[in-house]
Amino acid sequence: MSPVLPPNALEVISHSAEQTRRVGVRLGTLLQAGDLICLHGDLGTGKTTFVQGVARGWGAYDPVTSPTFVLINVYRRTDGGQLFHVDAYRLSGPQEAWDLDLDAYLERGPLVVEWAERIDEALPAERLDVAFTWRDDTQRDLLLTARGSHYETLLTELRRRTFGR
Ligand SMILES: Nc1ncnc2c1ncn2[C@@H]1O[C@H](COP(=O)(O)OP(=O)(O)O)[C@@H](O)[C@H]1O
Ligand SMILES: [Mg+2]
Repeated sequence: MSPVLPPNALEVISHSAEQTRRVGVRLGTLLQAGDLICLHGDLGTGKTTFVQGVARGWGAYDPVTSPTFVLINVYRRTDGGQLFHVDAYRLSGPQEAWDLDLDAYLERGPLVVEWAERIDEALPAERLDVAFTWRDDTQRDLLLTARGSHYETLLTELRRRTFGR
């Protein structure tokens, strides 16, 4: 871990798709309605792979797919809970995101957004940002940054579960 990271940030070097999923699983177990997770990074850096873990940890029984034919994927849990997944790559920009009324989804469940930077103006400032960087065929750098006290608490808990401190 980099010694210069601020306290609201956590860096994880992932050496496999499964490891990226496992980080997602740990995060997914902590998520509640209203939680916003914004994923950033180029194509193939592991954003959808991470969402597979998030959905698994959260308890979804629906499989995670890239939102291709619909703008918002919904993953269900047996208790009736819903997890929402948007790929902003499919959206023309913030206006289309405004039209989707993402706040209404957030009231009902956690929301994970891939390519969140494309619709940044349409998203709340308080969120957990996760930036993915490609290192080599199997290695990715995940930089998680909490924006706001709720997400700092979430990240502290994630750090504790990941590193035991
Ligand atoms: N450490 C890693 N973390 C995540 N994905 C990885 C990793 N190493 C290799 N991969 C592969 O990279 C690809 C990532 O694809 P995907 O998750 O769809 O990316 P994105 O949604 O960012 O476009 C998958 O084929 C996955 O198996
Ligand atoms: Mg993707």
